[in-house]
Amino acid sequence: MEKKPIVLSGIRPTGNLHLGNYFGAVKNFVKMQETNECYFFIADYHSLTTHPKPKDLQANVRQVLVEYLAAGLDPEKSTLYLQSDIPETTELYLFLNMNAYMGELQKVTTFKEKARKQPENINAGLLTYPSLMAADILIHRSHMVPVGKDQEQHLEMTRTFAKRFNRMYKTDLFPIPKAFNFGEQLVKIPGLDGSGKMGKSEGEGNAIFLNDDPKTLRKKVMRAVSDSGPTEMNQEKPEAIQNLFTLLDVVSKPDVVEYFNDQYNNCNIRYGDLKKQLAEDMIAFTEPFRERIIEISADQDYITKVMDMGAEKARISAQATTRLAREIIGFRKIY
Ligand code: TRP
Repeated sequence: MEKKPIVLSGIRPTGNLHLGNYFGAVKNFVKMQETNECYFFIADYHSLTTHPKPKDLQANVRQVLVEYLAAGLDPEKSTLYLQSDIPETTELYLFLNMNAYMGELQKVTTFKEKARKQPENINAGLLTYPSLMAADILIHRSHMVPVGKDQEQHLEMTRTFAKRFNRMYKTDLFPIPKAFNFGEQLVKIPGLDGSGKMGKSEGEGNAIFLNDDPKTLRKKVMRAVSDSGPTEMNQEKPEAIQNLFTLLDVVSKPDVVEYFNDQYNNCNIRYGDLKKQLAEDMIAFTEPFRERIIEISADQDYITKVMDMGAEKARISAQATTRLAREIIGFRKIY
């Protein structure tokens, strides 16, 4: 039987899922579960670089898990787990660190940025973030890693570390993983603040979260940036207006989009009406997610079962890899 490609991605346990995350990543994870052997995990080891309080860490991990389940990740189809439930990852991280050089780690963009932003907390975990990420990926000998553009440099380092290990020990233990971004088929979801993409760091009100209640959602949409309207027929749309139309495109029916487009092109558009429609269509779109989030969140037994199941499946694959790595490196067999 031919083996399915192994797909893996890590999810930072910060904040709630917004429409940008959903269309940019989660929706595609959900699709990939059908045809690949998928591993999706919550990167809670990584989050220690910012020293979270244990209570906050736990609550964040739980919330992220609940929302990904609500969005369609299926623990029967994928292996869904917490990174910290697979301590084998830390052993591989140590092995990889022995061949990760200070110079190359210091050159990583995310490290430089973090170091600039938090000069009081430039810890070794921050510096070696790329080797931990490489361990996450290589522990399951993954082939494909769906990630955003911002993670491509990290993935390039994973490839470097994998090749280095393979070369050093004359082995082919690690497949060289490929970054996978969904390219053309990805709709970029803009934020509500007039420019750029939807993100949670762009300030209050820029992002629509899957678990926003209707009142919050209406308020955010009604406050979205627009302008005083077109002055000429068929005028090109400025960014803020194009953004509203892009959002309409993903949640509204085609005839609704066409209606407002015509209104815009005839200079009759009332942005208040467009926003009201957009808000109602977003409420309808997010409602099933909101309901599932509430339902799953109330079911602690189910959440525990999902975490246990994921940990068990992920450890089988992780242990197989560290066992081989230990042997290749020249350590004694201990299990
Ligand atoms: N660094 C990723 C992010 O910030 C999260 C992550 C950790 C990850 N380990 C990973 C992503 C392994 C893909 C594969 O979003």
